[in-house]
Amino acid sequence: ISEWLKSSASNVNPGKTITLGFSQLGSESAWRLANTASVQDAAAESGIRLIMRNAEQSQSKQFEALRSFIEMKVDVIAIAPVVESGWEDILLEIKQAGIPVVILDRSVDVKDSSLFVTTIGSNLYEEGVRAGKYLLDLMRSQPGPIRIAELQGTKGSTPSIQRGEGFRSIIKARKDMVITQSAPADFTEEKGREVMRTFLEVPEDERPQVLFAHNDDMALGAIESIEEAGLRPGVDIIVISVDGSRKALQQLAAGKVNAVVECNPLLGPQLMQTAKEIMAGRTLPKRMVPPEDVFTQERAAQEISKRKF
Ligand code: AHR
Repeated sequence: ISEWLKSSASNVNPGKTITLGFSQLGSESAWRLANTASVQDAAAESGIRLIMRNAEQSQSKQFEALRSFIEMKVDVIAIAPVVESGWEDILLEIKQAGIPVVILDRSVDVKDSSLFVTTIGSNLYEEGVRAGKYLLDLMRSQPGPIRIAELQGTKGSTPSIQRGEGFRSIIKARKDMVITQSAPADFTEEKGREVMRTFLEVPEDERPQVLFAHNDDMALGAIESIEEAGLRPGVDIIVISVDGSRKALQQLAAGKVNAVVECNPLLGPQLMQTAKEIMAGRTLPKRMVPPEDVFTQERAAQEISKRKF
């Protein structure tokens, strides 16, 4: 733990209520709503005073929220960053104010890693790898060419960049497996529906046989467009998505989705624990990753009731 953190921690009275300022990036998906609820519930349960601001996908709104947290002199700041780049200056302002920062869910692309204490969130690259491995295995005896459509999330966001890279790192093993269409659909159901509709407006021999959606909401929207086009999602077009929402698992059980790679939004308890440990002056690992799974059609029915979002 760096000196500036030690000095902020040493000023703390152990009985004092911790105030946590949390800049949430938006409310675009079921995952995000579950993430927000998890942080709120965990704060209430652990007696931490939470001040949360929703930036509605705007990095400049995140900056505004962070500056207001500095003015309020909160004890700890957590940020779920909408995009990866552009964080250096604001993180430096926070550091100069002596407030420790936890990065939640996504990453920030900064040279100086002392600008934040730790990152709590999934291995988003590995999620892309898992999606790619599932597809390679499923298609092992299917001859090429195999055309893949990709619905990316928010442009410049860590999950979109890393899931895309992880997926490509695996499918490149087959030269006849090609991403023929790829576009951002902002992690929303509405955009997923809209972009998929345009993906399907091509001659039949150019139509994708596979959809890799960077999240469930976009996959759910896309399924509707696939059906509108008279095709069977899960059969005529293989659908792979990421997150593991209950709705996606229901579509998995119904055979309209082929696999869902899990991404865990329930990070609230770990965030509260981390805030407490920072305030107690403890040393923390630079990265904390929750354990995650891949859901397939065989296991979908038994998993649905266990889903928390
Ligand atoms: O950063 C996590 C991603 O953001 C989730 O996969 C997606 O649903 C959310 O909007």
